[in-house]
Amino acid sequence: MKRTLGTCYYPEHWPEKMWSDDARRMAEAGLTWIRIGEFSWSRLEPTPGDMQWEWLDRAIDVLGQAGLRVVLGTPTATPPRWMIDKHPDMLAVDVDGNPRKFGSRRHYCFSHLGYREESRRITRLMAERYSRNPHVAAWQTDNEYGCHDTTVSYSDAARVGFRIWLAKRYGDIDALNAAWGNIFWSMEYRGFDDIDLPNLTVTEPNPAHVQDFRRYSSDMVVAFNKVQVDEIKAHSGAPISHNYMGRITDFDHYKVGEDLEIATWDSYPLGFLEDRVGADAAHQRAYARQGDPDFQAFHHDLYRAVGRGRWWVMEQQPGPVNWAPYNPSPLPGMVRLWTWEAFAHGAEAVCYFRWRQAPFAQEQLHAGLLRPDSKDAPAMAEAQEVARELADAPDVQPAQAPVALIFDYDADWAWDTQPHGAGLSYFGLVFDHYKALRRAGLTVDIVPPEHADFAGYKLILAPGVMHLADGLRAALSKAEGHVCYGPRTGARDAGFQIPVPLPPAIDGLDVTVARLESLRPDMPISLDGKGAVSGYIEELEGTAPVLMQTDAGAPVVMGGAGQSYCGAWLDADGLDRHVALLADHAGLETRAMPEGVRTRRTATEEFWFNHTTEAVETPAGVLSPAGVARRPL
Ligand code: GAL
Repeated sequence: MKRTLGTCYYPEHWPEKMWSDDARRMAEAGLTWIRIGEFSWSRLEPTPGDMQWEWLDRAIDVLGQAGLRVVLGTPTATPPRWMIDKHPDMLAVDVDGNPRKFGSRRHYCFSHLGYREESRRITRLMAERYSRNPHVAAWQTDNEYGCHDTTVSYSDAARVGFRIWLAKRYGDIDALNAAWGNIFWSMEYRGFDDIDLPNLTVTEPNPAHVQDFRRYSSDMVVAFNKVQVDEIKAHSGAPISHNYMGRITDFDHYKVGEDLEIATWDSYPLGFLEDRVGADAAHQRAYARQGDPDFQAFHHDLYRAVGRGRWWVMEQQPGPVNWAPYNPSPLPGMVRLWTWEAFAHGAEAVCYFRWRQAPFAQEQLHAGLLRPDSKDAPAMAEAQEVARELADAPDVQPAQAPVALIFDYDADWAWDTQPHGAGLSYFGLVFDHYKALRRAGLTVDIVPPEHADFAGYKLILAPGVMHLADGLRAALSKAEGHVCYGPRTGARDAGFQIPVPLPPAIDGLDVTVARLESLRPDMPISLDGKGAVSGYIEELEGTAPVLMQTDAGAPVVMGGAGQSYCGAWLDADGLDRHVALLADHAGLETRAMPEGVRTRRTATEEFWFNHTTEAVETPAGVLSPAGVARRPL
């Protein structure tokens, strides 16, 4: 397959006389894909029913004539102002009960059936008009579901929908009362219509109630997306995608992904470093112009799983963005490095956001490939360089990794619902494991908890999967590779109760979590040897051999050759030791990566990336700052 580049373009932002020059320059830069349309509803339908397609026809034509291929976005992330008059109750409602206002974007509630029909209507009209257009080669539904905290909405529409969803899930109210444990504090309901949304309660609501509302809210995103997919598919055979985000886990991306052909995501390495990576100030300073060495890679691997192998970067940061606490410029070479890193992880395409910096509105200070005066911005030269390299380079040959790391959205909501200690998050736990695996030079696949096939994996990690569903439990028990469970794996049943026999209850592994505690950040527990437990530890009982323990002799990791359980959140040194131990059981070779250097293996070669500001010696030669190397195996 030929890997390709692209950009995000907003013809409606620019006078029509600029379009053909833009298209010519895009093609000359070596770009293939141009994503358009996703925020254009107020120009497509300025007043209800008054469709204005001609400008979009011409824009697609200009791009197509220049040899470019269009990804057409449905405009449903930005319903126009008149839509609020038509459906005043379509606005999402925040946890404090306040409706969110018009004046930015994503101001809709996923549960609102009236808006869902509007979304169906505009998608159908678009699909009817452009399905036979030879230049429209792919679709995008909406834009960044869940962005700006919009997955969960406490609206009237959500209340109605949630009751119906619960009635379907539990059948009768006694079953729900039993599953949730509503006898506690006399919270029993007489019927599904008694049930309200889990906000504005006096103290915390029942975690089972919250967890089911999170599941319901996720299902509403899946349903909203499916409506658009059905309309597009009725007319067009072109692949359909959606652009997901970094560390936004409020809905089940695998479930949305099952209805799509391609998963894409929006990669803003410097923006993420400040407010999503979870790094300390020293790390933020060291990587301020490069981004975290693992955060992008983690999402590449996650979205490869969501797309069942087919994935893109739909928006690649090209320069300073406008939305993080601080917005530095990338180190020269990083735009190229980020692009190659995506290809090394199997991306089919990388598109830069955006073509030209807009001199107006919210993103005035967001760089593009062009400056507002249309001169090249610094990223343009790096994009052109990658385009030239792609033309000559051998193709990337993806291969299954030796290590599988499970990522489960349901577990993420469960940790969020009941973290037990400040700052304990499932994403953080899984990401810490991912980082440790990469520090050991290992190539990782992220795998979903459902329909997972562990054939061929030498090592499988399942940290923090709070509800270990029967299917996953069975698949893991059959895996040939070493499986490591915990902490908190199997800690709750589907109804958010502590199961008895006590967790983790793994066949053939005599380990029981007798008690657990969360710890202040300033009370680490030293391990016997290097490293410490930080934030969370379980008291483990059982006869399984102890593989790692605290200074005081309390077991931390227990198990044998085929499977083990880790009952603690380990710091970086502890995780490095844990990974070394697991790799040993799994028969995997590790190598200590120099700080900020990462490698990834494909079927035929090894990619090396230097995320630091210094030249570094690697097995692939000396890498300059932001350097990339490919080495045949
Ligand atoms: C993304 C979004 C784009 C743009 C970009 C700015 O989250 O999809 O529309 O806002 O961020 O970085």
